[in-house]
Amino acid sequence: MNIIFIGDIVGKSGRKAAKKGIDLVCKKNQVDFVIANGENVSHGRGLLEKHYDELMDYGIDVITLGNHFDNKAEIKRYITQVDNIIRPLNIIRPYPGVGSLVFKVNHLKVRVTNLLGSAFINEEVNNPYLSIKDVIDNEEPADIHIVDFHAESTSEKQCLAYALDGLVSAVLGTHTHVQTNDGKILEKHTAFISDVGMCGSYNSVIGFEKDSVINKIIFGKNGRFEIDENDDLLFNAVLLKFDEESNFCKDIITIKEVFANEEEKN
Ligand SMILES: [Fe+2]
Ligand SMILES: [Fe+2]
Repeated sequence: MNIIFIGDIVGKSGRKAAKKGIDLVCKKNQVDFVIANGENVSHGRGLLEKHYDELMDYGIDVITLGNHFDNKAEIKRYITQVDNIIRPLNIIRPYPGVGSLVFKVNHLKVRVTNLLGSAFINEEVNNPYLSIKDVIDNEEPADIHIVDFHAESTSEKQCLAYALDGLVSAVLGTHTHVQTNDGKILEKHTAFISDVGMCGSYNSVIGFEKDSVINKIIFGKNGRFEIDENDDLLFNAVLLKFDEESNFCKDIITIKEVFANEEEKN
């Protein structure tokens, strides 16, 4: 069983990068299941239904979210009409949808959970460990369990991964949009990476047009963060390879591809 998990898809450039990246990875590997973080898909914040449909056309099986889960109001309506969008499990305010779901992939049950970190995240959340432990202990068991841990702090991500070692198949960090070089298999077979990275504009600040961000962060000016839709395209993901007998993750391979933005430049 091979599963790819794609980092936060940011705006139109991110959607184009995801399409190209999925095609390339699937050409080179047998891929059984595709998960992607979709919290930034629509103009960098949230997920419109039309863009959800677009991602389905690219071959994505499941979309996880993050702190921007409700930035496009319409998701509150359609999240319950589809069966493959997972919003953060441990948000405190009432919200439609679920934070963990089981999917049938080949002959196996694959659970996917989306969790928010507690450090430097504005959303008020329940304790991430206790929230997922409740799922592990009380909900339908699965052969493979992939956790998208959407959090800011690398140390919080490492702590949760060690705390869940042996209890889930993979703890994959998202949210910071910068792919880290620490992918590994922990002692009790749980795969971990602090951050999978992102899909989007290559010469950007975490997916956003760099001058629009620099003007605000460095020079304190007001203004919107824009997305450069003509820039080259970055694709970040991890490929998880599972042992056929034990269902343990035996390898976590980081993927970074940069594509020319041909359509816009020609
Ligand atoms: Fe994000
Ligand atoms: Fe985020």
